[in-house]
Amino acid sequence: MKNKIEPNAQERLMRDDDFIVSKTDLKGRISYCNRIFIEFSGYAEHELLGAQHNIIRHPDMPRGVFQFLWDTLGARKECFAYVKNMSRDGGFYWVFANVTPDMDAHGVPQGYFSVRRKPGRGAVSALSDVYKLMLEEERRAGPRDACAASIGLLTSVLKQKEVSYDQFILSI
Ligand SMILES: Cc1cc2nc3c(=O)[nH]c(=O)nc-3n(C[C@H](O)[C@H](O)[C@H](O)COP(=O)(O)O)c2cc1C
Repeated sequence: MKNKIEPNAQERLMRDDDFIVSKTDLKGRISYCNRIFIEFSGYAEHELLGAQHNIIRHPDMPRGVFQFLWDTLGARKECFAYVKNMSRDGGFYWVFANVTPDMDAHGVPQGYFSVRRKPGRGAVSALSDVYKLMLEEERRAGPRDACAASIGLLTSVLKQKEVSYDQFILSI
């Protein structure tokens, strides 16, 4: 389900001890979400269960970030990411997410988990700048080449800083 909500400047801030949790199937359809997820998203639980996780996608997020997330999960690895999400009323909230494959006893992924906590303001400001550049790059490249172009830009930013993605994300 894609939403056609008009984004606005109303920000919701996570509290220090909040965890926003969801589980999905292998296609990213929500199979579980906790009370705080429901609160921040503004949707009712029955609207979230079975919906694609992009129900809370914010248009300020570059597509390349999600491509990177799915590539990392596809390699059966965990992924850390700062994500700007959109609530049902068009407001937004930043999270620091750890997304992991949910493996069975044979190491085969059955779905995914995401646990999100309050992001530091410095990190949000740094990532907002990087995401803006990535988004501009995607617009320049056009839909077909958007992800490759913005991941290329992210890679060159990291190269300049001489750090890996994980080093960068976990150090800010
Ligand atoms: C466990 C899990 C959690 C996710 N959490 C979010 C999220 O909080 N916000 C979001 O926009 N996308 C999230 N995604 C990614 C979405 O599935 C989707 O790839 C993304 O919203 C981009 O959607 P689009 O391809 O329709 O643009 C999550 C995916 C998984 C597997």
